[in-house]
Amino acid sequence: MVCLLVLLMLASCAASPQDLSGKMFTFPQQTNMARVTLTTSTVSFNAATVCHRSFTDLKRDHILFSMATQTNSNAFLVFWDSTNKEMEPHIKDAKKEYGGCDYKPGMWHSICSTWDSVTGLVQVWCDGRPSSRMFVTSGPISGRTITILGQEQDSHGGGFDAKQSFVGMMSDVHMWDYTLSACEIQKYVDELNFTPGNVLNWSALDFQITGRVLTEDKQMTCH
Ligand SMILES: *[C@@H]1O[C@H](CO)[C@@H](O)[C@H](O)[C@H]1NC(C)=O
Repeated sequence: MVCLLVLLMLASCAASPQDLSGKMFTFPQQTNMARVTLTTSTVSFNAATVCHRSFTDLKRDHILFSMATQTNSNAFLVFWDSTNKEMEPHIKDAKKEYGGCDYKPGMWHSICSTWDSVTGLVQVWCDGRPSSRMFVTSGPISGRTITILGQEQDSHGGGFDAKQSFVGMMSDVHMWDYTLSACEIQKYVDELNFTPGNVLNWSALDFQITGRVLTEDKQMTCH
């Protein structure tokens, strides 16, 4: 009975969203399992915007954001291709490459990706600088989604590869089920008042940590 109560309490703890304002996830080592699984209730996307800030010293390919459905393991994915120095948004397993991203190691970068199912256009914003708007794929993303930080899914919730894992710090992850305007993206990049994500909200984040990932205070610069 006591056990059952504890279990119920644990379950409800895991399910209650946390305010991560001023916090970051630290991924301190390369593994094929350490990750943060994010809970979303949305089942179908006609459009989407994903924004995140990250810091890494990796000089290899790595994942920044991985959302999979049963049919598309790269339903909405943001990946850094180190060989070609390209930021790659993937939508429903189709990808585009953006070579204009000044993604240096050892500093924070704000990356936003927008996509719309009617036009099929994807656009990446690196530290507030837009890529050209490119056709990637049209039609909605549908089915149960699994969203993961730190690992790249090659199957629905699995198929991780240490060599594509994220090592470093990540913060301010937001997702919207619509495309943000250039002005709203600029507000996010400048850390001004912006409308938090209605799919993933860093101020009310439902998540589960697996393996060695820490929730720490964001390091501020000292004035
Ligand atoms: C995000 O979370 C904050 C804190 O709980 C809440 O005040 C706000 O309404 C949320 N925003 C959205 C769009 O869900």
